[in-house]
Amino acid sequence: MPSVTIVGSCNIDLIFRLERLPQLGESLPALGFEIAAGGKGLNQAVAAARLGAITAMVGAVGQDVFGEMLVKVLAQEGIDHTCVQKDHKEGTGVACPLLDANGSNAIVVATRANGHLSPKAVTAAEAVIARSDIVMLQQEAPADANLAAAKAASRHQTAVMLNAAPARPVTPEMLRLTQVLVLNEVEAAQLSGEDASTREGVLTAAQRLHEQGPAIVVITLGSEGVFFLHQGAAKWAPAFNVKVVDTTGAGDAFCGGLAVALARGKPLPEAVNFANACGALACTVLGAAPSMPTENDVATFLARRRQKRGA
Ligand code: RIB
Repeated sequence: MPSVTIVGSCNIDLIFRLERLPQLGESLPALGFEIAAGGKGLNQAVAAARLGAITAMVGAVGQDVFGEMLVKVLAQEGIDHTCVQKDHKEGTGVACPLLDANGSNAIVVATRANGHLSPKAVTAAEAVIARSDIVMLQQEAPADANLAAAKAASRHQTAVMLNAAPARPVTPEMLRLTQVLVLNEVEAAQLSGEDASTREGVLTAAQRLHEQGPAIVVITLGSEGVFFLHQGAAKWAPAFNVKVVDTTGAGDAFCGGLAVALARGKPLPEAVNFANACGALACTVLGAAPSMPTENDVATFLARRRQKRGA
């Protein structure tokens, strides 16, 4: 079985369903409200576990009801949460996804305990990282915690996947320690300094980033599909068309799918196709962590798409 460790954020998502996003100074009635588990790290952990990986989470929650809820979710999903620390001073991370009628979102995040995840706490999880095929990082955890994880991974030949979301600068050292870099076009433009608004620009941005370390660079382009660069070759994979309910967590489902497929030794085009299906399926369900698909969901979805194409 593939083995994946996630170092990252755990949030409670307070989800407001709206007809449209509010303007500044405007107060809007919500069409619906839900509370769900979220946080880029936790979502990716749930994705990896549901896709069949032995999964461990390294993160931080507060000593509060939200923290208890998230630890319960991790336990229910069969995720090793022994390295999720309970912060005495800060509460659990909270995010507020605002969804419009098309399922598109705007999210406000209060990092709280996630911002206190220390390099020391990450290094304490070195044994867990050492026995993993891949360690997944995002940017809702402090940069020094991510660097500690990447260094621990490199000491044990564990591959490092960095999902550079949300956008913030990444040091050259971090890029050098990264084997798989996943980002969207906005993050790609910010990290590479290239204008990634055209296909040519995306290719140039990917090449710039590849030159700085990562063997695999994957740039997600929403409904435009996915661009990936591996060993100098550039490829595009189209997005799957689905009925979108909520796009929150789609990128996390994509990352979880990519990590598990790569850990299983799948060739990159196959791994990207699998990840694409995971991202598409996550858009069809409300909530972030609850929308992560299972291995069976993805197999059924891909088989139906193949059948349709053959018909
Ligand atoms: O990637 C989606 C996640 O971003 C949400 O679950 C929310 O918690 C924010 O962190």
